[in-house]
Amino acid sequence: MLNIAVLVSGGGTNLQAIIDSIADGRIKDTKIGIVISNKKDAYALSRAKEAGIRAVCISKKDHKSRQDYDKAMIETIKEAEVDLIVLAGFLIVLSEDFVREFGGRIINIHPSLIPSFCGDGYYGLKVHEKVIERGVKVTGATVHFVDKGTDTGPIIMQKAVEVKNDDCPESLQRRVMEEAEWIILPKTIDAIAHGRVIMKDGRAYISDEV
Ligand code: GAR
Repeated sequence: MLNIAVLVSGGGTNLQAIIDSIADGRIKDTKIGIVISNKKDAYALSRAKEAGIRAVCISKKDHKSRQDYDKAMIETIKEAEVDLIVLAGFLIVLSEDFVREFGGRIINIHPSLIPSFCGDGYYGLKVHEKVIERGVKVTGATVHFVDKGTDTGPIIMQKAVEVKNDDCPESLQRRVMEEAEWIILPKTIDAIAHGRVIMKDGRAYISDEV
């Protein structure tokens, strides 16, 4: 059984996609041990509680320093004895200490086709604003392992989504979620739970063989 921690900051639709996928069997042999939000009022916390999942808020504001905050995060996650940390709309850049501690066991969902529209300053709706501004015709989402850079870790799964002429950032964000994020994040977790994500020469592959 893969025990996962899901880290969130906002609405938690990706968290909901994970909860629903575990419930209907698209993700097997997996449980969510803990949900951690950096924001007290994140709706994601309500979604977790509704599903009977342990949900806590660890806010940067409640800690004297970034180091103290990281320490609290690391301790809580260690206590929860999770195998995998899933960043599902978690909008705090992880510290090097955190990444070192859980190296190779953290994945993130990003709302574009990395390496486009990613890195510092590219998060949430901002990504879709930039996509529309640039006039690209195809965007999408990416699930990747987290390393010490921002959105630079090995790519595990991607899915393309068409940009329509009349899209606004909000409509595009919704379509990227529906057609890509809520599909590839559960698929990746299920693949990891079944040992189907393989690293070779610094790149990640999904194997069809179990
Ligand atoms: C999602 O679109 C996710 O890809 C994005 O934040 C949104 C969270 O929505 N993450 C990033 O931009 C990370 N760089 P949710 O709370 O409804 O899942």
